Amino acid sequence: MHLLRVQVPEFRALKDVDITFEKELFPKVFPLGSLNGGGKSTLLQLIFTLLHCSDSEERQIYLLNLLKIAKIESNSEIKTLAKIDIYHEGEIVCLEFICLRNVFSEEPSDKLAELISNIEEEQNIRQVCKISWTQYERESLFCYVEGMIGTQISLFLSNLSSKVFLAAPPTQVFLFLERDDNRALFQAQKNHDSFKIHDAILSAKSKLPGFFTYDFVSVDLILEAFQKAINLDFKEYLETGNYGENVNKLISEYNLLLLDKQIALIPDESGKLTKIAFKLNSNNGKTINLGPEDFSHGELKRLSIYSWIKNCNMTDAIVLMDEIEIALHPDWQYQIVNDLVEWSPGNQYILATHSYELCQALTPAHVKEIEPRLLKQSANS
Ligand SMILES: Nc1ncnc2c1ncn2[C@@H]1O[C@H](COP(=O)(O)OP(=O)(O)OP(=O)(O)O)[C@@H](O)[C@H]1O
Ligand SMILES: [Mg+2]
Repeated sequence: MHLLRVQVPEFRALKDVDITFEKELFPKVFPLGSLNGGGKSTLLQLIFTLLHCSDSEERQIYLLNLLKIAKIESNSEIKTLAKIDIYHEGEIVCLEFICLRNVFSEEPSDKLAELISNIEEEQNIRQVCKISWTQYERESLFCYVEGMIGTQISLFLSNLSSKVFLAAPPTQVFLFLERDDNRALFQAQKNHDSFKIHDAILSAKSKLPGFFTYDFVSVDLILEAFQKAINLDFKEYLETGNYGENVNKLISEYNLLLLDKQIALIPDESGKLTKIAFKLNSNNGKTINLGPEDFSHGELKRLSIYSWIKNCNMTDAIVLMDEIEIALHPDWQYQIVNDLVEWSPGNQYILATHSYELCQALTPAHVKEIEPRLLKQSANS
């Protein structure tokens, strides 16, 4: 899957956004820049929520939270939230996410009339979710795809949703969460409300397999990856009489990543893998044992991205990453482009960033920008 083009007429800070991520460009890594508040996080979250949640009833709540932000003005009936073109297996599929109010005027516009007829004939359109504002006022989100009927759209969205990922810092405001949960971010340390946002993010992670925050939970991911490798090696033993090489391979990969440290697997008394540790060979020839809590911020960030990408088994995926450069030295900001391609080739990466070094690792054509169209132009500009 390749996100080819995204158009957003108007959504929060986004106005007339039209960005193309050319499929001919290699590597498939696209930095996305703007001023602070320019709409990068908004755009990544909008794309992620629409593409990851539109084919699942359990995830509808996250779309509804978006609709609450994008409520149609009371004087209109129809609003395009986003148009997203996906390149898949040699074809371009154009998805249009449209909000419709249940209150239609007596003379609907041509576009509205066409949509109503499509809805009635179940052609090219599928209802994604609906929300009741009042007893009489409802709004529905539809996905319109030229050339597909309802069930084909469902199949496509279902496949697409498993190929879309979002990574962001845990201190980010997430538009797909409840507004009240996000507000709790600002009451941190005051009362138990500070746990509310943490719980909301954890709950979202359990329902949105593509959602990841760069935090220290990565240790669990590492353990999970090794447990999978152990199981695979044991399976191979049962089938062939020889243990597989999966654990050794994973140890080598982690050691390569960790540069001056080596990973160590620590079993409990029953032999079950419960802990990982790291060994550092110091200058005086001594080996120092370290836990993940002894790592630097940047080291943990790189480790957590690597563990996430490896653990999700991403193939042919659209990976949206916000503020990837935070905590990384400029050398690592430059290096992360190659790292991503090496860790999981074949994916498309869209990286919201302020990092000059990261952009320098690519050609100018790779670097996309959200222009500040909502800002008032000064009289002499
Ligand atoms: N309803 C709204 N209409 C217009 N703008 C809004 C609305 N709600 C929030 N905003 C603005 O949208 C911007 C949020 O954009 P966003 O977080 O996506 O920016 P960003 O490019 O990720 O910035 P940063 O680089 O600082 O992370 C803020 O400036 C915010 O004030
Ligand atoms: Mg941001």
